[in-house]
Amino acid sequence: MTAATFVYALLFYAAVLVLAGGLAHRIYVYARVPAPLKIPTTPAPTTSSGVALRLLREVLLFESLFKSNLWTWACGWLFHAGLALVLLRHLRYFIEPVWGWVAWLQPFGIYGGFAMAAGLAGLWLRRFTVARVRFISTPSDHLMLALLLAIAASGLAIKFVAHTDIVAVKAFFLGLMLAEWQPLPADGLLYLHLGLVAVLMLIFPFSKLLHAPGVFFSPTRNQVDDPRETRHLAAWAAKLERQD
Ligand code: HEM
Repeated sequence: MTAATFVYALLFYAAVLVLAGGLAHRIYVYARVPAPLKIPTTPAPTTSSGVALRLLREVLLFESLFKSNLWTWACGWLFHAGLALVLLRHLRYFIEPVWGWVAWLQPFGIYGGFAMAAGLAGLWLRRFTVARVRFISTPSDHLMLALLLAIAASGLAIKFVAHTDIVAVKAFFLGLMLAEWQPLPADGLLYLHLGLVAVLMLIFPFSKLLHAPGVFFSPTRNQVDDPRETRHLAAWAAKLERQD
């Protein structure tokens, strides 16, 4: 086994542990944050199914961003939709046999790669060209966009500039999952792509990318607008009332 295979195998085990453990911890923390007040952004749904639909629209269409800024919405949505396609396309490296719909989706995944890169480029440009956005942009805002763009660019370069042995890549990842390690192809671009992906996984639970699970815990979005029908009582407040 080469040194690179060994290093990348350990790197991905560590990255999966940090990503899964970190996300689970964050979600646990989010779920326990008290929401003492009724603060849905109105007009808001008055039923739970309405709230579920509102969250679905928020997650799939970025509805509130659409209402606030059309350009940011267009770039943001393009990036996320592209990313979703790319991730679904990547499923083929982790399953054997490959499910029918994953095979069917492969060509769309490539469009997804370009859409993802274009959206990211737009979002990054915005941080330089819109004065008030430039003013509030921190180095981590820039680095996160740079990291995602570098992942997309290195992936597209593997696909269109210098092919790698994708069968061996798949064997490597299946091997990691089955604890029967297989060699990783010796390929600089692939090392770069996978190294950047591992960095992304390692920093995800500590970064702004936590908005992905976070959106589900936002009281302004996940609360039913029914304070006139039902008295809102947070769990901790209910406990205090019982003690009186
Ligand atoms: C362990 C996880 C990953 C592995 C093993 C992997 C591997 C690969 C490989 C081998 C290719 C070239 C495909 C080909 O030549 O047909 C590729 C392409 C690509 N990767 Fe990844 N990648 C991973 C994660 C990611 C992630 C998390 C992203 C996005 C954030 C990403 C974005 C892309 C893009 C945009 C392309 C070009 C379009 C495509 O071929 O799908 N990759 N990846």
